Amino acid sequence: MADGSAASASKGLLRFLTCGSVDDGKSTLIGRLLYEAKQIYEDQLATLERDSKKHGTTGEEIDFALLVDGLEAERQQGITIDVAYRFFSSANRSFIVADTPGHEQYTRNMATGASNSDASVILIDARKGVLPQTKRHSFICSMFGIRHVIVAVNKMDMMNFNQRVFDEIVAEYLAFAAELGFESITPIPLSARYGDNVFERSARTTWYTGPTLIEQLESIDAEASLEEQPFRLHVQWVNRPDQSFRGYSGTVASGRVKPGDLLAVAASGKKSKVKRLVTFDGDLAVASAGDAVTVELEDEIDIMRGDILAEAQARPEVIDQFAAQVLWMGEQALFPGRPYLMKIGARYLPAQVTELKHKIDVNTLEHLAGKSLSLNEIGECNLSVAAPVAIDPFVENPHTGAFILIDRFTNGTVGAGVVLHGLRRATNIHFQELSVDRAARERLSGHRAGVLWFTGLSGAGKSTIANIVERELHQRGVRSYLLDGDNVRHGLNRDLGFTDADRVENIRRVGEVAKLMVDSGTLVLASFISPFRAERQMVRELFGEGDFLEIFVDVPLDTAIERDPKGLYAKAKRGEIKNFTGLDSPYEPPQKAELRLDTGALSPEEAARSVIAELERRGLI
Ligand code: ADX
Repeated sequence: MADGSAASASKGLLRFLTCGSVDDGKSTLIGRLLYEAKQIYEDQLATLERDSKKHGTTGEEIDFALLVDGLEAERQQGITIDVAYRFFSSANRSFIVADTPGHEQYTRNMATGASNSDASVILIDARKGVLPQTKRHSFICSMFGIRHVIVAVNKMDMMNFNQRVFDEIVAEYLAFAAELGFESITPIPLSARYGDNVFERSARTTWYTGPTLIEQLESIDAEASLEEQPFRLHVQWVNRPDQSFRGYSGTVASGRVKPGDLLAVAASGKKSKVKRLVTFDGDLAVASAGDAVTVELEDEIDIMRGDILAEAQARPEVIDQFAAQVLWMGEQALFPGRPYLMKIGARYLPAQVTELKHKIDVNTLEHLAGKSLSLNEIGECNLSVAAPVAIDPFVENPHTGAFILIDRFTNGTVGAGVVLHGLRRATNIHFQELSVDRAARERLSGHRAGVLWFTGLSGAGKSTIANIVERELHQRGVRSYLLDGDNVRHGLNRDLGFTDADRVENIRRVGEVAKLMVDSGTLVLASFISPFRAERQMVRELFGEGDFLEIFVDVPLDTAIERDPKGLYAKAKRGEIKNFTGLDSPYEPPQKAELRLDTGALSPEEAARSVIAELERRGLI
């Protein structure tokens, strides 16, 4: 709906995202928009006309895809940019279009693009109709807060501008998207290649009475709503040039603030009124979303970098457990119980998924049961964070309601999530002060407690060696306990199998049990394949420095297969056991184990002796 241009001019900048595969004509559409908006330089145009004749697929016409793909190639040289932002303006408005690569493996970039956009243009190839990819992109747009969608049914020229084709696609799309909660969905029949209904109303779609693409883009309300939300500011820096001044610097994430407003520190609840809003160019009467400002308060209260200043009457929840939707982007699946690093607001904290409630089939929007999330899957999860953080539900505030998950070994972003609501599950449980503590128990035992964690392939000799070590310890009067994989799986972990997800949970539980035992003053021996670095690291972190010894029982796979003490390798090779470590399930060897035992060369007795020697060396016994 084309507004009068005066009204449109006041709409401000619109950020939008384009979604679709390369084949749907995304590059052509963006090229067309830049061309019609006269954002292409004369020399670029000349090159383009020449190249179109040479390499293009459009005969005498200009191939706009060449233009955008050319920019694409340029941008690929700058490896840091995942999303290309292009700027153009029509007579009535300015736009920033986030161009995200269309391949499925680039979902991450789409999520980035979506979280910074007000609207999304979802391209559908009129010849192909609604594809799984269309649904996936729409779901992600909705998940990351896009409220306005334009369904650009492209390549209508190849379908003779047939109204029925358009109507059928629109009907299918609307039926799917009804549950996604968009505020507006505007389908437009167009041809990016020939420009029909892009900037110019097409004479070939007389049956279509809706807006052209540019008219619709001009009329969408930009995300003014961030300013309407409660005030939030992440303190990035405590500015204290001298004793007379203390200010808290950061960018206003949402809402507005002015001198006299009562603010609260989200985490502590301490309150004070705003005295001044200082900027480089002088004081402000009011600061709103997007403004960088230094807030001076009337009272001296404790505020640190990373804290959130919030409107006192509408504070975020400060909580260490919450429910969220997570889009997984890791090559390795997400496993409940595995530790990740969460970046939320300005903070980085250890976090884990405590429960995967369900996965979401983005095609049917059905809920599916699952134990892990693979690349590009979306699920609803409960998460637990190492310390309380200030959060809002994403729908109320995208800045305090979105987070990413980072792999602790590769430092890569593996997930993006939006907060649904806080979980107040365990707030009535406190740590009980106990009068007999670990130190007291250790004194009684006459030795220190700790964990000897034996890891390695099945058949490496872990349990055999651990058993000899324990016998020796027992003779020396050491209180010990051997936790053994096979044994634990008969009781505590009888519900677990050998999928990656189950192994993660197996080690998580055993780690917690070992922790209780160490607290009881016991020297624990744990013998588990524990194939993943992440979980061994997690268990290590449950203990203090020096309490946890990782012992890598190292043997060549061939030797383990040869020994095959339980006949399991043979069974696995016959296909009778699936996910067998070393065969069709991975083993990640330790990188810095405290002790490595080469059981290809050492006898079990020799290996056990070096464990005892190591314990003596460390003063554990
Ligand atoms: S872990 O991977 O989760 O750490 P755990 O040490 O508890 O494994 O159990 C391994 C033992 O289970 C092996 O020693 C072997 O006897 C038995 N087992 C049965 N199926 C498998 C399998 N698919 N992979 C590895 N071990 C298996």
